[in-house]
Amino acid sequence: MENFNIAYHCTTKQCQAGLGDKVAMRWISSTFERRDYTFGEMDQLSNRFANVLQTLGVQAGQVIFTFLPKTPEQFTAFLGSLKAECITGTLFSNFGDDALLDRLGASEAQLVVTRKSLYRKIARIRDQLPALRTVILTDVAEDLSADVLSWERLMETASDEFAIPVTAPDTPSVLHYTSGSTGKPKGVLHCHRSILQQSRTAREVLGLQANDLFWCTADQGWVTGTSYGIIGPWSLGVTQLHIGGGYSPQQWFELLQNERITVWYTAPTALRMLMREDQMAYSEFDLTHLRSIFSVGEPLNPEVIVWGRDTLQKEIYDTWFQTETGAIMIANRPGIPIRPGSMGTPLPGIEPGILADDGASLPNGEHGNLCVRAGWDSMFRTYLNNDSAYASKFRDGWYYTGDMAWRDNDGYYWFLGRSDDVINTSGHLVSPFEVESALLELPEIAESGVIGAPDDLLFEKVVAFVNFHPGTEFTPELDLKIRLHIANRLSSVAIPQEVVPVETVPKNKSGKIMRRVLKARYLGLDTGDISTLED
Ligand code: PRX
Repeated sequence: MENFNIAYHCTTKQCQAGLGDKVAMRWISSTFERRDYTFGEMDQLSNRFANVLQTLGVQAGQVIFTFLPKTPEQFTAFLGSLKAECITGTLFSNFGDDALLDRLGASEAQLVVTRKSLYRKIARIRDQLPALRTVILTDVAEDLSADVLSWERLMETASDEFAIPVTAPDTPSVLHYTSGSTGKPKGVLHCHRSILQQSRTAREVLGLQANDLFWCTADQGWVTGTSYGIIGPWSLGVTQLHIGGGYSPQQWFELLQNERITVWYTAPTALRMLMREDQMAYSEFDLTHLRSIFSVGEPLNPEVIVWGRDTLQKEIYDTWFQTETGAIMIANRPGIPIRPGSMGTPLPGIEPGILADDGASLPNGEHGNLCVRAGWDSMFRTYLNNDSAYASKFRDGWYYTGDMAWRDNDGYYWFLGRSDDVINTSGHLVSPFEVESALLELPEIAESGVIGAPDDLLFEKVVAFVNFHPGTEFTPELDLKIRLHIANRLSSVAIPQEVVPVETVPKNKSGKIMRRVLKARYLGLDTGDISTLED
């Protein structure tokens, strides 16, 4: 392959292969307006945006972000930016001020594409973002100022021809921030070579073929939304459905039926929510054209697989990957019997290992660190501006994923949990550290400790333990204030489902919050060794 440019493969190459008039994206807005975009149109629109970036002086290798809900511009901006060889990040549209500042600041982003209503959040922090030169708003007809510009105006005058550079495989491409258990979120940087694994897995796991209509429900703010809501399917010339609205059981099933979706990629929380919709008469929907359902992001319980078989007469295939792996590494897939509760088997060319903390390889059946032999095509290239954190994830040629797992005698991998305190709530990783820090911004709170506790629907829920300053009464108003504060500073996914007042937050002698102790107390379990607890 000569040109590795992801956007070239997703648009121009499809046109060259004669698919210019084929629908690339069937777009259904939140008000049910429907519009089909052909590969030819996606090519031209993303060319225009690549030209806009060049006109504005944005250089290859500089960072630009979209900060958008699902809208057609999300896709054309993403592809256009990759055509111009910019490092292209996507920000979840629910992010609050701190979440934005961390990401836009640390990456020294030059440009953001957003909407007027969301721009308010950026305007509040803009004086702390010296590198941010330009903001483009997709829903204003005229420029608001010299550096807050109208997408419409810029795109109207831009040429729809763009000479995509011959992009080398190691050229940086997509940037997604991910939360750890300590410190600020880290910018996972991928390169254009990742398309090899994204394309391969779209074909070999999702089984996508020329006549498919594929629907990936993930938001483009997360890796599933870019690897499989953009890159994998379009690199194969497959039509995708994208919708502007959120979760809606009735609408989703009407779409599956009426649009004749053939392959559907979604998440366990959504499937569990659908399973609970007891007023839904699933048998009334004709899903004969739906070949398979895939799931990612959190453990898929066996009950959901049984529900899929009994109620929908469909198999639901679990897949495992991470922001850092860029594409699916381990999966259940058609042709290989599903073991309900297991993540499946590794893909050809991918070598997972179960390793002890000292790096020793563990035999089948034993619990250990889930690792992947370094060097797969969609492997992240660094944590942006944090090479030491990147290096710390690798040892003896193995990448340590942060997950704990075991392998059975037939090579199936079974997820056990995280090796760190990162919370996985409805498939979104939330950093307890970030929530703890945001809570301390409130004048009422003296100390805070945050954990993930098991939850039937969300897999894990965020539980915040807070020590209030003397004289503070924990009223329903304060409870609401805390939740709103987290939504405004971080994101709706980080909102504590429970706020528990405590006298003190347990810390070790060096002042580190002992989340393990909080979790054990919350769950009524033995708190284990607490000899390091401060007096
Ligand atoms: O803990 C694993 C969990 O989600 C983490 C990756 O999260 P993120 O980087 O946000 O990417 C999510 C979308 C790929 C993993 O380290 N996870 C992902 N898939 C599964 C899973 N846990 C259990 N089963 C899965 N299938």
